[in-house]
Formats: sequence, C-alpha cells, structure tokens
Amino acid sequence: MNTSSVPPHRLNPAGGSPHADNARLLAHGPVAPVVLPGEVEGVAVLGHEALKDFLSRADVAKDARHFAALRDGRIAAGWPLRTFATVRGMTTADGADHRRLRSLVSKAFTARRVELLRPRVEAMTADLLDGLERAAGGGVVDLVRHFALPLPIGVIGELLGIDAEYRDTLHRLSDRLVATDVGPEEVMAANREMVALLSAVAAGRAERPGDDLTSALIAARDEDGDRLSQEELIGTLLLMVVAGHETTLGLIANAVRALCAHRDQLALLTNGEAGWPDAVEETLRWDAPVSLFPFRYPVRDLTVDGAVIPQGTPVLAGYSAAGRDPAVHGPDADRFDVTRPRRPGAARHLSLGYGAHFCLGAPLARMEATIALARLFTRFPDLDVPETRLPYRSSFVGNSVRALPVRL
Ligand code: HEM
Repeated sequence: MNTSSVPPHRLNPAGGSPHADNARLLAHGPVAPVVLPGEVEGVAVLGHEALKDFLSRADVAKDARHFAALRDGRIAAGWPLRTFATVRGMTTADGADHRRLRSLVSKAFTARRVELLRPRVEAMTADLLDGLERAAGGGVVDLVRHFALPLPIGVIGELLGIDAEYRDTLHRLSDRLVATDVGPEEVMAANREMVALLSAVAAGRAERPGDDLTSALIAARDEDGDRLSQEELIGTLLLMVVAGHETTLGLIANAVRALCAHRDQLALLTNGEAGWPDAVEETLRWDAPVSLFPFRYPVRDLTVDGAVIPQGTPVLAGYSAAGRDPAVHGPDADRFDVTRPRRPGAARHLSLGYGAHFCLGAPLARMEATIALARLFTRFPDLDVPETRLPYRSSFVGNSVRALPVRL
C-alpha cells in the first residue's frame, strides 16, 4: 500500500491490550500496513470513518477465493488464522450466498425472539451468581470461569440444542481456534476435533430433532441441499458457537473491569443516574471485545482515506481502534464514561460491525450483558478486582482477559 513512510506493524500473536498500539498507529492515519503471523502482509483499517466506508464498499469481499496469498498457495495448512478465512458460513460469504446462509439463522435472533429468552437468561444468571458466591467462599474467585464464560456458552448451547456435557470441550477448542499464537499441529488438531464434535452434535439432533436451531438447520439441509450443504451446516454451527460466546464473555469481563476501575461510573449505574444498557454500549466502544476482525479482501485495488490497498490483500477490521478514534469520539475518546451514549450528537460505535455483516447476535449479546452486569453489581455492589495486571487471551482478534479474579 502507499503508506510506505510507515513501517508495517507486526501484530503480536500473543495478544494483549490493543489500545497503546492502536493509538500509535492511528496517529499515523486510519489505515495501517500490518504483518500477520507467517510473514503474511495485510492491512488494518483503524479509523472510525475509514472503517465505516470500508465495511460498506461493494468492491470488498469476504470469500477467501479473493485472498491472493491463499490462492497462490502461500498460506500453510496450519496457519493460525486459516479457520477465520476458510470456515464455510455467512462470515466468509458474499452477496446472494451470504443472504442465503444468514437468512437460515436470522429468524432466531430478531429482537422479538431474543426477548422470549429473557426469563431463561435471568434464571441462568441467578444460578450462576449462587455458584459464584459458593466458589468464592469469602475469598477471591475467577469471574470468567464461574460467570462470564458459562452464561453465554449456556445460552448459545441451549439455542443450538447442544448438550451441556459438550460445552467445556467446545470452549477449549474454540479458544484454540481464536488464538493467534498456536502452532500448526495444534490448529489442525483443534479444527479436526471441532468438526468431529459438531458433526456428532448434528447427528444427535438429526436422530432426535428438537425445538432448536441445529434441528432447524438440519431440516433446511435435508429439504434441499441447495439451501445448506453439510459443510455449511458444520461451518454455521462452528461460527455460532464461537461468535456466540467468546465475544459476550469478553464484553462481560471487560465491563466488570472497566466499572471496578471507575467506581464513580459504577455509582451512576447503581444509583440510577445511568442505565445498564449505557454501560454495555460504553464498554463496547471503549474496550471492544472484537479487536481486529479477519478478513476482507479488495476485489480491485482500493483507495481508503487516501491509502491504496492492493487487490487480494487480507484486511482486518480494527474495531477496538475505531472505538477510541478521537476524530469522531472527541479528545476524551480514551475516557470511560457511561453517560456518553446519551450525549447529544455522540457517535455510535462500530464494535458490533457495520453493513451487511453486522452482528447477527447483537440483540442477544446486549440482553445477556445487560442482565449479567445489573444482577452481578446489584447482588455484589462492593465487588472489586484486586489485581490490575491480568493475563490476556492469546489473540489479537479477541480482546479480553483469560481470567478475572474478583472479590465479592
Ligand atoms: C458482545 C458480543 C458480541 C460482539 C462484540 C460481536 C461482534 C461482532 C462483529 C464485530 C461482527 C462483524 C464481523 C465482521 O464481519 O467484521 C459480528 C458478526 C457476527 N456475529 Fe457477533 N458479536 C457479539 C455477539 C454475538 C452473538 C451472541 C452471536 C450469536 C449468537 C453472534 C453472531 C455473529 C455472527 C453469526 C456474525 C456474522 C454475521 C455475518 O457475517 O453476516 N455475535 N459480531
């Protein structure tokens, strides 16, 4: 690309908080050349307006057939980001193919359908909070393990009709698939195991169909193979499992950390001066759980905010950077402020995506996180995070911590 004065930024496969790098790169401009694992050249679009523009372009594709390095055989089988690029589902499809795959599941995620899940999410939250208190036993307890993870995986597991016994394994495998620092053998093994497990789940639902999304997808496959192939069925399940829990887990954990580090903001929520949905929106903006989303590929050389991105380049959507872009969120973009979403003229964040691939699970994610935070802090108003240096997930795609020790 033509921003040759800026040396490409080497993405750290081990992950970590993205904000310092984001700010440094954004200071040079909204589009940055990056080096992906395996010395693959890519680009990250980090500025809010540039990202919005890029995500709405018709000459940008998600189908990996447009990924030049993959097409030319320069991407190894065990490349850590390969599943993101090649999984067969809506997130790697364009146009009519995308609409077909998305429409098969979209009915389950309308605001109305999601609202019907509210009592179940509330009940699960209450049970998990009981378990959290028991596990703490008056001491320190890991909020990720006992709350932020089991809530979303429980909800998506029930929606998909996945038996509870599979859920730990699904999370372990999904963790490997979103990690950016795993070796080729491990990536391929995690992929094989995930496909085998989801195939077993699908076989179980085919035998005993239920009132769940997997059974509905199987019916679509069986009615007419043109609507959904077996590979697309497994790819769609994989996508729903990964997208349906890793992200919400990150949102809950990031919000708890933000609120514990900004007790004045927490007070605005507990005394009713701001609403829990505001805390959810401000966390999405300030500490986006999806930091750099892979990939889109220009189908011809493309100019974004004056920078040329060559055809076939893998481009990452820089959501965590856009959330703190001072050009749209103002000079205090770095400040966590739960009253911001209601400020007149406040820019909306892009952290749930934008355009045709806007997050399908947004209503569900918002509902889960709102219930989780309200119930958690209502029950444990003095909850705090005793440590400030926390272990991050090893991924530059996701942005959240591996564990969150709290005192209730
Ligand atoms: C806080 C939680 C969540 C965040 C931050 C989030 C974020 C995102 C983002 C940024 C995208 C767009 C990716 C891109 O193409 O650039 C996306 C797409 C998607 N999300 Fe979410 N998501 C969340 C929760 C969920 C949940 C709970 C589900 C499912 C139940 C879900 C399912 C999906 C799916 C299927 C897509 C692909 C849509 C498409 O390609 O048409 N997400 N999400």
